[in-house]
Amino acid sequence: MSEGIIVTNNQLIKVIDDALPEDLFAQALKDIQTEKLSATLGSINPIFDGFASRGPAREGFDPESKWRKELFQVLTTNSGIDVKQFYWRSTIYASGSGISWHLDQGDGRSYAFNYYCIDTWDIDWGGELLYLNKPVSTRQGLSEGALSSAGSELQLIYPRPNRLALIYPGCAHRVTPVSKRAGDHYRSTWTGFAF
Ligand SMILES: [Fe+2]
Repeated sequence: MSEGIIVTNNQLIKVIDDALPEDLFAQALKDIQTEKLSATLGSINPIFDGFASRGPAREGFDPESKWRKELFQVLTTNSGIDVKQFYWRSTIYASGSGISWHLDQGDGRSYAFNYYCIDTWDIDWGGELLYLNKPVSTRQGLSEGALSSAGSELQLIYPRPNRLALIYPGCAHRVTPVSKRAGDHYRSTWTGFAF
């Protein structure tokens, strides 16, 4: 079991760096690079969010795969929430793609997660997870909260290799579009929901 380093921890979001031991991260990275992807328009705003490339939908974590088993354990240990099931898949944004402001709650979801499987990232490549550090439950609440914020309530999390973010209900967030400057570096994550 890896320890990881908790870099952010509040009621809305928890971020763990070095979430998996190096060798398991390397396997997760290799697996995401060999996913069979299909491109779909973003689900939040299909007109402006661009294409998201996704691998096959998965249910639960295959105990035969060491890194998946470990990720399941890290999620379970850190979330503090006992969940029945995980639904997850790879999600890859190339230059120009991101996701508009939204809330992931509803349909019995306990939390969402993003596990960044990239080998490197530059702070000018975009793709940051931007969130409102104030709980909201509706689109209107989000809009009022974000527009009335002087800035201190808007926080961002950079894509970083081997970083895991848990996003709890009430956390409004978006992914800023990946910049042209990222070139052929893609923002690759294993993404899912715990139920
Ligand atoms: Fe989300």
